[in-house]
Amino acid sequence: MPRQPVVALLYNDVPAEEEELEVPVDLSPEALGFTPYFDLDDVPAEEEYARIESALTEAGFKVASYNVKDRFERLFKFLARRKIDVIFNLVEFFHGRPELEMDVASFYELLDIPYTGATPLTLALAQNKPLAKSVLRSYDLPTPRSMTVRRKASVADSLSTFRSRHNLHYPLIVKPACEDGSGGIENESIVSSLKALRARVEYVLEEFRMDALVEEYIEGRELNVAVLGNGSVRRALPISEITFEDMPEEFYKIVSFQAKWAPLHEAYHRTIPSCPADLPKAKTQEAQDLALRATEALGTRDYARVDIRMNKSGEFYILEVNPNPNLSEGTGIARSAEAAGIAFQELLKTIVESALERSPKLREEE
Ligand SMILES: Nc1ncnc2c1ncn2[C@@H]1O[C@H](COP(=O)(O)OP(=O)(O)O)[C@@H](O)[C@H]1O
Ligand SMILES: [Mg+2]
Repeated sequence: MPRQPVVALLYNDVPAEEEELEVPVDLSPEALGFTPYFDLDDVPAEEEYARIESALTEAGFKVASYNVKDRFERLFKFLARRKIDVIFNLVEFFHGRPELEMDVASFYELLDIPYTGATPLTLALAQNKPLAKSVLRSYDLPTPRSMTVRRKASVADSLSTFRSRHNLHYPLIVKPACEDGSGGIENESIVSSLKALRARVEYVLEEFRMDALVEEYIEGRELNVAVLGNGSVRRALPISEITFEDMPEEFYKIVSFQAKWAPLHEAYHRTIPSCPADLPKAKTQEAQDLALRATEALGTRDYARVDIRMNKSGEFYILEVNPNPNLSEGTGIARSAEAAGIAFQELLKTIVESALERSPKLREEE
């Protein structure tokens, strides 16, 4: 029997120094002001990693889990000392900085150990929304019309050079150029006047200390298309839709920061995934085809998720390409895989096997 491949499951989870005191709150629907749809507790990160570890073990791999805890020297020793066939890369930031995600992948490259997911270049591109959009445009892929307001030495400088006349059509959405996970995306991000636009741009430049991306707001349906595999076996999974049906009138139908992360906020319970999305076959294929082309343009590997909006006329706009998307069981790409009849452990196995194809041993044999 061939030797079981060894997978190093790497993640970087640094516990907060002081745990916040939990204030007991009344969680009844009367006190909340709405009826929750999801659980009000978050699953702790450690539990998510443990689930991935056991699913990988069940899939037949020998798994060595390792929490990097921001300590590069220890990581280096860990990787140098052990015989590792492939890294399952769940490290998304270092020293609290998401922009170092790409440097961690570079380190695996230099050690010549195959790893799951995207290369440093793709991670870098996808993290910068204006850059990623220009790559999409250069491949003739549709993305909302936009402009970028550069953050100068001072916000006042940026605003004075910010063209008050632009060719974009209101409503617009203002986003921090390099955030992720709906960082900086709130109801107030959507603006319908020059005054509100300037105020929100100023807020983003100041609070996030980065450029601001101003995009045309696409009213319509929100679709997530997961992509699995590389080259000739790259395929799109059944589409998942975020439905906003019972979103109260006062909130825009977007996946805001609160919708993603705040279980005590109503928006969290009014953004409900539905998979497979109820779309005509031709539209499904069109969106899947766009997702495949978008992931190829950005150069994702093994697994990815493309966020797309479809307006009332059925036109698609790519919002972003997510390399190494969230792998929690039962959500996101795992949900789409399930709809395609691919169980969680099978999904992880496919990702690992696709990364193992890049192992140096195979390269020598070529
Ligand atoms: N141009 C847009 N039109 C409509 N909604 C948008 C637009 N851009 C972003 N959104 C909303 O904001 C959410 C987060 O934006 P996205 O660009 O995907 O950034 P993130 O990296 O934070 O996920 C989207 O899921 C969508 O609901
Ligand atoms: Mg997104």
